[in-house]
Amino acid sequence: MANEADKRAAALAAAEEIESGMLIGLGTGTTAAFAIARVGELVRGGLAVRAVATSLETERLARAAGIAMLDFADVPAIDLCIDGADEIDARLHAIKGGGGAMLREKIVASAALRMVVIADASKRVEAIGRAGVPVETLPFARAFVADRLESLGAEVTLRHRGGAPFATDQNNIILDCAFSAIDDPCRLADEIARIPGALGHGLFVSEVDAAYIATNGRVTRQTR
Ligand code: A5P
Repeated sequence: MANEADKRAAALAAAEEIESGMLIGLGTGTTAAFAIARVGELVRGGLAVRAVATSLETERLARAAGIAMLDFADVPAIDLCIDGADEIDARLHAIKGGGGAMLREKIVASAALRMVVIADASKRVEAIGRAGVPVETLPFARAFVADRLESLGAEVTLRHRGGAPFATDQNNIILDCAFSAIDDPCRLADEIARIPGALGHGLFVSEVDAAYIATNGRVTRQTR
């Protein structure tokens, strides 16, 4: 079960990596929100950093926390990205996108010199796959992409919120893919990325450099 105190502990530990002058990528979700709050505190304490957001919600939270925000469209690279995950294993393979922000999250993570995941112990798994892999999809290509995903072994569900199809920050839909097991996450990530109309997916197989995982207040740092 998720543990809010541990999410916060992981976020505080990761925030130790922040240095003055950095351009930070701020993740999305309940764990990332603790990191955003911490960056806000550091900024109010005099630390000079700027940030980019991985979602509209994060942009709103970060501005409210007093963090100087840049438009990522103007930014080719950042120093450090701090984000949550739905699952993460010992190889630092992760699944993200429970909040639907994985397309922007992956772009910002890829632009980062260093990407760290923060999580409570409920996210730590032996092998990723139980969470399901979200695929941001162009609405025009819904049936085509769903068919291709099924041919990769997925049971595909169109994500809904409040009785209507979930709309991402880019106004696309999400196809949630349940796989009985993911034997080769790198191959699956490549195969999904090759489907025209699949704009992004939640498999992070190479982006994560380190993970801060908290268990009952104790934070462990895992690196590649
Ligand atoms: C947002 O789209 C996600 O990738 C989140 O980072 C992930 O779902 C973890 O969210 P929580 O920290 O809220 O569990």
